[in-house]
Amino acid sequence: MGDNMCDKVTCIDGIIIVNKKIGLPKWYNPGINKIALEAFHNMRECAKEEKVNLEIISGFRSYEYQKKIYQEYVNKFGMEKTDTFSAKPGHSEHQTGLAFDICDDSDNFIGTKEDLWLKNNAYKFGFIIRYPKGKEYITGYKYEPWHVRYVGCFVAKRIFERNITLEEYFNLQNF
Ligand code: DAL
Ligand code: ZN
Repeated sequence: MGDNMCDKVTCIDGIIIVNKKIGLPKWYNPGINKIALEAFHNMRECAKEEKVNLEIISGFRSYEYQKKIYQEYVNKFGMEKTDTFSAKPGHSEHQTGLAFDICDDSDNFIGTKEDLWLKNNAYKFGFIIRYPKGKEYITGYKYEPWHVRYVGCFVAKRIFERNITLEEYFNLQNF
């Protein structure tokens, strides 16, 4: 996943960790990750054969861009509500270039064929559903079936099979 990806950020076994407690420096600005993007393209091709159309609607987001959208949500909904669905600047996985929102970032996505396909197949391409249903108390975010995070096939398969979060996989729940 890129030679210097783990420099000055929190990595475990080569996997970048970003959550409400573990953030990224302001200057960390790697752009979209090429390996994750290639994995997405493979996934997209495969899904297409089953008439499932996967599109990235939000990929890499800089610290500054996250700051802007987070503030817009706070102005509209207040901080408490915003913190259930939007990461504070420096705490979004989108800043790693490894997370993509697919097709729709609203509850309208739930139950679509794209949602069902991703749930069952994303791990085969190295992606996890990062904010699963019922795990809000661990991730800190509401269910976001459209937000996939590239972790590579080895980790993705284990997380899928055990139905756990990235925090549980690395035992970070109480961290
Ligand atoms: N919606 C996710 C949590 C983000 O803002 O990165
Ligand atoms: Zn997202």
